[in-house]
Amino acid sequence: MEFIKPCKQYLDSYYKAMQETYAETLHKYIIHNPEEYENWKDTIFTDYENSEKGINLPKGFIPSATFWLVDNGEYIGTANIRLGLTDALKYFGGNVGFIVKKSARGMGYGEIIAKLSIEKARELLGCPVLVTCFKDNLAATKNVEKCGVISKAEEIITEAGKTGMAVKYWL
Ligand SMILES: CC(C)(COP(=O)(O)OP(=O)(O)OC[C@H]1O[C@@H](n2cnc3c(N)ncnc32)[C@H](O)[C@@H]1OP(=O)(O)O)[C@@H](O)C(=O)NCCC(=O)NCCS
Repeated sequence: MEFIKPCKQYLDSYYKAMQETYAETLHKYIIHNPEEYENWKDTIFTDYENSEKGINLPKGFIPSATFWLVDNGEYIGTANIRLGLTDALKYFGGNVGFIVKKSARGMGYGEIIAKLSIEKARELLGCPVLVTCFKDNLAATKNVEKCGVISKAEEIITEAGKTGMAVKYWL
């Protein structure tokens, strides 16, 4: 198992994962639309590097580092670590976002990517990190709660067209 910077070796596997995962994912900003593959296949790795360096960021965005979880030569999931917090990220999003491709869910990879991404975020930021998720996202809350929660709070929020109870964890 590897937790690595995205690289070309796993691009085909990533593209296949997007075909099964993109449409049903609520928060799409850390993944890619497979229907637009031709538009991002040649720029994806430079885009990730630029995002980390703060180059060409969309308005209101701050630098972020992206990692892929890979197992047995297959892309499994993405972790995106925001290297700071804006008011919008404090509201929802936090420092760490992670996703496991649909066909690999329910096999324990969520726990692994949550632990690795939260550890990496603490290392990169040098301080406790914020992770947010909807309370009804049971797989996410279970995983995050195994990662050394310092404190948590609940708040009703509206995000991506959904209004619901969110849990905000400091870890
Ligand atoms: C959240 C996510 C990463 C979990 O990935 P996963 O690989 O399925 O997670 P795991 O296999 O480690 O399962 C975690 C736990 O949740 C449980 N679980 C999984 N799906 C569940 C569901 N629909 N309802 C209740 N529990 C569920 C598992 O049984 C496991 O519990 P256990 O530790 O007691 O055995 C995955 O569902 C995903 O990518 N979701 C979309 C993006 C997202 O919500 N990211 C979280 C942002 S904070």
